[in-house]
Amino acid sequence: MDLEKTPEIAKTIFGDRLPLAEKYAALLGRDGDTLGLIGPRELPILWSRHILNSAVVADLVEPGETVADVGSGAGFPGIPMAIKRPDIQLTLIEPMERRANWLANVVVPDLGLTNVEVLRARAEEAPVDRYDVVTARAVSALPKLVKMLEPLARKGGKILAMKGSKAAEEIAETKPLASKLGLETFEIVTVGENILQDPTTVVRIGLR
Ligand SMILES: C[S@@+](CC[C@H](N)C(=O)[O-])C[C@H]1O[C@@H](n2cnc3c(N)ncnc32)[C@H](O)[C@@H]1O
Repeated sequence: MDLEKTPEIAKTIFGDRLPLAEKYAALLGRDGDTLGLIGPRELPILWSRHILNSAVVADLVEPGETVADVGSGAGFPGIPMAIKRPDIQLTLIEPMERRANWLANVVVPDLGLTNVEVLRARAEEAPVDRYDVVTARAVSALPKLVKMLEPLARKGGKILAMKGSKAAEEIAETKPLASKLGLETFEIVTVGENILQDPTTVVRIGLR
């Protein structure tokens, strides 16, 4: 299937880093199906459903913060965030060898991303109390996800979980874990509202 053409709005989102985002899209178009990184049906919606929705999550990260993206897969949301924001440091945590190797040996060097490191590991094996922000998309339902993500964040850090229309329900199911895990605040935040046709819904959890 054909790769989606770069949408006009991508220039607004990535500015002069747009060529890097286009190179990432081209690498996914070339390797995504053969290496099992992304389904062929995703290629015609690669920008609108994946790259742009991921990039805008970076708007919720403060300058200079460190971010761990857990279960990054083919690099979502971590790679678009790293392209958009060279001032933040991303660690992509992905246990599957094929995916982690593609990120580390193809995407990072081909794009020359100096603000990205790849850790081939499960979240449970990753450094604890380390990152300002921990992100995830399509890894697990929120109650299980917070148990995986919370240990990685520093005191007072935050979790940004990309979620869909069930965000409020998932928060309700997660609240019983709040005091045990130090989950202090829960918010549903919409990012890219004024520029994306399908803005991104993020559950932002502030940690004690
Ligand atoms: C459905 S994919 C989503 C990939 C990417 N985040 C995206 O949105 O396209 C889920 C990913 O989570 C990874 N994963 C599963 N269990 C994990 C764990 N315990 N720690 C870290 N990553 C995990 C899988 O290897 C897989 O790449």
